[in-house]
Amino acid sequence: MPASNEMLSKLVRFSLVDGMSPDVSPIQRRLSNMRGMYADEAAYASILRESDPLVYEFHDMGLPEKEGAIAFGTSIIYAGKVGDEYFMTKGHFHNILATAEVYFCLRGHGYMLMENPERNWEARELTPGCAVYVPERYAHRSINVGSDAPLITFFAFRADAGHNYGAIETKGFRKRIVERSGKPEIIDNPGWNV
Ligand code: NI
Repeated sequence: MPASNEMLSKLVRFSLVDGMSPDVSPIQRRLSNMRGMYADEAAYASILRESDPLVYEFHDMGLPEKEGAIAFGTSIIYAGKVGDEYFMTKGHFHNILATAEVYFCLRGHGYMLMENPERNWEARELTPGCAVYVPERYAHRSINVGSDAPLITFFAFRADAGHNYGAIETKGFRKRIVERSGKPEIIDNPGWNV
């Protein structure tokens, strides 16, 4: 029996300025964790010979992954490119495919790239003050198209949804976002096979 005064509510701190939380340990992804995800493999190898930059991190508030619970936290994608392709998250489907998610942009400039198994895709520009609703069944990837500032978002979704990276890791998304003449452009992913 839980004690009657057990605290099931949770109070966490996070910064609206840099997305950091002193209450949880961030999960970090470095460039070496993203092998095969960038089109320009020569540029990828070239960067890794010099350093292994932090591409993104997220501060998940760590609530139990149970039915009815809501997971939330912050995601921070740093500025950078591999060749002409911007730094981005791996992206994922949810194990419970019919899961929607909301991302609220706190800082920076980016895109949310989305696609579903029915081969539809969407991209939404993220600027501070915008909340993007990621629909059910859509994989999603955050991309920082800013030149130096991190892209910082606050996210929330059903806590038992789980993450499915498998399909993304093998073929990527249908589209890539690259820099052309100093601006982001959405192009077809030549590595995406039907
Ligand atoms: Ni998600």
